[in-house]
Amino acid sequence: MISLSASKDSRGALDTGTHAGTRSDKRSGKRALIDMPNDLAVRIEDLSITYKINVDTKKTLKNAVMRASKGEKVRMRTVEAVKHMNLDIPHGSVLGIVGANGAGKSTLMRSIAGILPPTEGRIIVNGRISTLLALGVGFNPSLSGRDNIILGGLASGLTKDEIASKTDEIARFADLPDGFIDMPVRTYSSGMYGRVAFAVAVAMTPDILLLDEALSAGDAAFKEKSFLRMRELVQEARTIVIVSHALQTVKDLCTHAIWMHKGEILAKGDAGEITDKYLQFLNVGTLPSNLEDF
Ligand SMILES: Nc1ncnc2c1ncn2[C@@H]1O[C@H](COP(=O)(O)OP(=O)(O)OP(=O)(O)O)[C@@H](O)[C@H]1O
Ligand SMILES: [Mg+2]
Repeated sequence: MISLSASKDSRGALDTGTHAGTRSDKRSGKRALIDMPNDLAVRIEDLSITYKINVDTKKTLKNAVMRASKGEKVRMRTVEAVKHMNLDIPHGSVLGIVGANGAGKSTLMRSIAGILPPTEGRIIVNGRISTLLALGVGFNPSLSGRDNIILGGLASGLTKDEIASKTDEIARFADLPDGFIDMPVRTYSSGMYGRVAFAVAVAMTPDILLLDEALSAGDAAFKEKSFLRMRELVQEARTIVIVSHALQTVKDLCTHAIWMHKGEILAKGDAGEITDKYLQFLNVGTLPSNLEDF
């Protein structure tokens, strides 16, 4: 089993990205020489992410002015979505993240992707990331699938030639029916959308692939194809992090897993062991239907 705990081996590694929190580390955005073992893809150090939500029910300008004139402050509610988390993800591992709704899984994924800055602590990423996040950057609905692929390629910094060759490869992999690839994305079913999104994410040959509920929309045939592609990525020693309520997927694909609960890691270890523990916690037993969708 690959250890997820902090390693003492620390040869210096030039990170390709450091997302740092404002309170405990102010080096955000700079490339720096970081103490990080070469065999690690991601190191998460004392990571906390807090959302601040304005809980004023009537958010009118008039109300805001009235409050300000009375010297009242805007009422804010804070949600600690991730709490002081430490985690090392070795290169070439397939990590599953399970846990109840609201446990902080998507928040953690967005933070690893660099979309959401840490409130405290830092994340060091060693490699190129490609993401397929449920709430990540989506496609432009009025453009065709093909044009969205080109835009995605441009955004990932690919050259024109690279994009041209990848576009065909992605379109082939997505394998949409009846010329849908040249139709506006708004006309797609959610499964078709998922197919193109998955095809784009894996075609970028990322070092680190982040998937948040990415496999739930595809049909059985596409799921199998996605699994095979992911196995290939694993064989190429790429790193994959999968958030899923489909526990069978986690069991089948992941080398190890963590169970997140209220922003913390409640358990980590072998994927089968962790999903079983989580199922016991949910008290639902291990009927095949339960494995499919929690
Ligand atoms: N943009 C946001 N603004 C405010 N609070 C948020 C935001 N996104 C998530 N939260 C809160 O942070 C906590 C963690 O949410 P998160 O989406 O990370 O959970 P999750 O484990 O991905 O859940 P699910 O299984 O439902 O996808 C929840 O309490 C949620 O209400
Ligand atoms: Mg989520």
